[in-house]
Amino acid sequence: MKDQDIVDLSWDEFDELRDPRASTNDFDAVVERAISRRGFLGGALAFGSGALAMGAGLMSSTTAARADGHMGFAFKPIDIATDHDIHVPDGYKWKVLVRWGDALFSDAANAYSPETGVDVSMSDRVFGENTDGMETFVDGDKTVLAINSEYVNPKINLPAASEGKPQSADEVMMLKNMQGVTVMEVADTGNGFEVVVDSPYNRRITHETVMTMDGPAAGSDLVKTNADPEGMSPKGTMNNCGSGKTLWGTYLTCEENFNGYFGATGAYEERADFKRYGIGGEGRYAYEKFDTRYDLSKEPNEPYRHGWVTEINPLDPSSTPIKHTALGRFKHENAEMVQANDGRVVVYMGDDERGEFMYKFVSNGTWTEGGSTEGLLSDGTLYVAKFNDDMTGAWLPLTPETTGMSIEEILVFSRIAGSKVGATTMDRPEWIAANPLKCEAYCALTNNKNRGIKTNAGGDETPVGGPNPREANKYGQIVRWTPTGEDHGSETFAWDLYVMAGNPNVHDNAYGGSDNVTAGNMFNSPDGMAFSSDGYLWIQTDGDDSNEGDFAGQGNNQMLVGNTETGEIARFLTAPNGAEVTGLCWSADKKVAFVGIQHPGGAWPDGAGKPRSAVISVWREDGATIG
Ligand code: FEO
Ligand code: CA
Ligand code: CA
Ligand code: CA
Repeated sequence: MKDQDIVDLSWDEFDELRDPRASTNDFDAVVERAISRRGFLGGALAFGSGALAMGAGLMSSTTAARADGHMGFAFKPIDIATDHDIHVPDGYKWKVLVRWGDALFSDAANAYSPETGVDVSMSDRVFGENTDGMETFVDGDKTVLAINSEYVNPKINLPAASEGKPQSADEVMMLKNMQGVTVMEVADTGNGFEVVVDSPYNRRITHETVMTMDGPAAGSDLVKTNADPEGMSPKGTMNNCGSGKTLWGTYLTCEENFNGYFGATGAYEERADFKRYGIGGEGRYAYEKFDTRYDLSKEPNEPYRHGWVTEINPLDPSSTPIKHTALGRFKHENAEMVQANDGRVVVYMGDDERGEFMYKFVSNGTWTEGGSTEGLLSDGTLYVAKFNDDMTGAWLPLTPETTGMSIEEILVFSRIAGSKVGATTMDRPEWIAANPLKCEAYCALTNNKNRGIKTNAGGDETPVGGPNPREANKYGQIVRWTPTGEDHGSETFAWDLYVMAGNPNVHDNAYGGSDNVTAGNMFNSPDGMAFSSDGYLWIQTDGDDSNEGDFAGQGNNQMLVGNTETGEIARFLTAPNGAEVTGLCWSADKKVAFVGIQHPGGAWPDGAGKPRSAVISVWREDGATIG
């Protein structure tokens, strides 16, 4: 692989390049094993006769639509699209709220140029690149959004002369400033929501922002570097993927593919954990050539300061972000916080890589409205999920007793700890969403071409079965679990599959998908997920949008809405070709949904110049709520 090609790879392709494991693929075996799972899947997807016993909130928001005959949704589902535009149902409107390079402060009004992108001097005063997870915060009559910027596209973001490879410290700084988190106030101006330029809430948190750490691994030898001998002041949050919101109203940003930022300019120690996390070789954006912090031959512990869940208070622009080591270190997708029946705080988390695990953190302390939050995300137990084929499962505690590792090692090398207790290797756990009306949670397992074919990077087998029932899984599925005793604090659960994505036009076996997938609503690679307050599950995709072969008839990436009682799924929005849909939150009055459009192709949304990732707002023309 030539240097200049690395930035063209997706993050999972990049990891495959780092870890080329032996591979065999017998197509006949794939099909046979998939078919043999059909009986099981029918059982897993049986929707009970109580399926229509929906919550009152759910019913009230859909009554009009039901009279209309549209499957219990408040909109008429839309067709696939293959163009470079956005489509929403009849009766809905959308407009761009903010694009990469748009000013947060008036001195950056001209920071973006279609030819050269954003000038380095203004690169931390504009909206970041590749928008991802986001949440809404309300302060009196003010609305503040915190929004992740996951990664960069150097061939788009850098001047053409750089050919996608940073050539100077300034260009590296520009890329660093394009990522992290944007906090910004938005307001309904009468012409829809717009950014409040120069709002005192507006803030960029980047790869350069100084943070602090808490929890058992903070200050440990593992996280000490030459620049920070105390191991308490890491710099930067990176590859900010999914999000979460605490019960007490702060933002959780989740550090996913942090490994790709590190490289070596000289000899370095190839550690076992580096292999498990895909750290080594050449960095994706040449950071190591211009900043020793990213150079494994100079700062081998720096990668241990990334891969955490980081908490930010969006309503206090002077607050210092906190990396919570108690929640474990892996490729964090999102962080879904709920509460156990006894008041303890529970955070569900996925590790998005082929054959990696699902986790949850449970605090020792309890939370009450307005009460202290001290220690709630620094003192507790990290668990990893074990799924049994009989549709039960357990959360296995990761402790020195169960793993033979120190607590610092468990938290910094959580993947290795999970392997020691026999956690279930999953089909790339992406977002986890908990139903606000019922004690259950859902995880999008986006796809896994290695299922049944290759081990994970730790050598754990990836057998076909349980919630990962298809070999070489190309479409993905959504697993759902109900904690025992209807208590998120419980250590056991029952699970089933809410949906198995597939293509019923192309396959008449398990690759055709579960019964709630039809030629009319099909999709691949579920990724982003969030429940609206009325109890619907919104599903965003990040998959193959070629509309060919296995994916013929699925069109561009999309956002669908699921009724989790009946199993029905309806397509609500289609993205421009090339883009994924990721990130979803609502205005305080639920009349507007904010939706993220990441890595669009063509020249969306401007119609000329560079493509720009953007957050859009979507609303109903009749002014009714949409969430
Ligand atoms: Fe950043 Fe797994 O998506
Ligand atoms: Ca994602
Ligand atoms: Ca994805
Ligand atoms: Ca993405």
